[in-house]
Amino acid sequence: MTWKTLDDMELAGRIVLTRVDINVPVQDGRVTDDTRIRRIVPTIRDILAKGGTPVLLAHFGRPKGKPVPEMSLRVTLPALEAALGCEVTFVERPDRDSLAALPEGAVVLVENTRFSPMEEANDPQMAQFLASLGDVYCNDAFSAAHRAHASTEGVARLLPACAGRLMEAELTALEAALGAPKRPVVAVVGGAKVSTKLDLLGNLVEKVDTLVIGGGMANTFLAADGLDVGKSLCEHDLAETARAIMAKARETGCEILLPSDVVVAREFAAGAENTTVAVTAVPGDCMILDAGAETVARIGTALEAAQTLIWNGPLGAFEIAPFDRATVAAARLAADLTDRGQLVSVAGGGDTVAALNAAQVADRFTYVSTAGGAFLEWMEGKTLPGVAALQQAG
Ligand code: 3PG
Ligand code: MG
Repeated sequence: MTWKTLDDMELAGRIVLTRVDINVPVQDGRVTDDTRIRRIVPTIRDILAKGGTPVLLAHFGRPKGKPVPEMSLRVTLPALEAALGCEVTFVERPDRDSLAALPEGAVVLVENTRFSPMEEANDPQMAQFLASLGDVYCNDAFSAAHRAHASTEGVARLLPACAGRLMEAELTALEAALGAPKRPVVAVVGGAKVSTKLDLLGNLVEKVDTLVIGGGMANTFLAADGLDVGKSLCEHDLAETARAIMAKARETGCEILLPSDVVVAREFAAGAENTTVAVTAVPGDCMILDAGAETVARIGTALEAAQTLIWNGPLGAFEIAPFDRATVAAARLAADLTDRGQLVSVAGGGDTVAALNAAQVADRFTYVSTAGGAFLEWMEGKTLPGVAALQQAG
């Protein structure tokens, strides 16, 4: 993979159209998690340091091509200014002359790109318009790179283009985890449904040495293996697909690690009475809500032997205690091994980051992606249009 970075670009006196992803959670008019905003600060600072004027392009929510007042990016301004420590000029309708007249050191945020239907259509006219506003294009929005939109893909082909610092960091970490990783590689994939992660599992069994399957997804595999999973969340109609994935794993020499013991309860509720049983002894009126201690120990053995870990999805119903135990224990072990320099640990996806934050280990992983959907698509082995456009840009 090759792409240009800010180091390769001449930016003095130039307007740098900078695609960022500040699609952040907001409640009652306030940003409740500013992670994505903080992560773009180095890029903006570096552009300013090189004498460029960063003009930020971003989307917010899904306004479906029309201006929706509640989806105005204005709501992010206070958090953006706080993170940057400087004023940010908000522009609803940018034009080249006004941008060119801004004083040195100005930072501009343009209104939600998705207020125009031409953005998601990747309309060449919109890409042309955006390109006419600036001199250089910088994409720092890895987490939106799975979208081929005018501001993520079209415009990249019309201006000298480069990756921002966050994009660089994401691509470097992902390359280290799946592109050219140190082996053995363990992938941990959890979450509720197999149906949303079929392509992911199919790709991983070809790339990793051990695939740990946890969460509700594991039940589908256990049931496909002929086990009774009681009232557990389970996609019985995917039994054939699960068996095909297991067969493919046998061919490629990928070991699939499924739970051997599980924590079961009669209700899905915080603090529900629970017990740990072998996967062969799940009571008919119970549901599986977490992996058991023996399974966690087996995952631990795999992690101890590994050099690289890629993690997407929790191992149990981590949002309700005490069914977060397996996820927390495995995450802490991964963090310890990373601290000792034994493991490169990379994680991504919305739920995963929430789980790692809850386990208080996110900052001890080698890298935690800011991306949800883009991280998944990348793990599926798909080409991300926003990244591909950078690679081809001159
Ligand atoms: C995200 O939050 O995952 C990205 O900003 C992409 O948003 P989208 O799923 O609405 O395209
Ligand atoms: Mg999304």
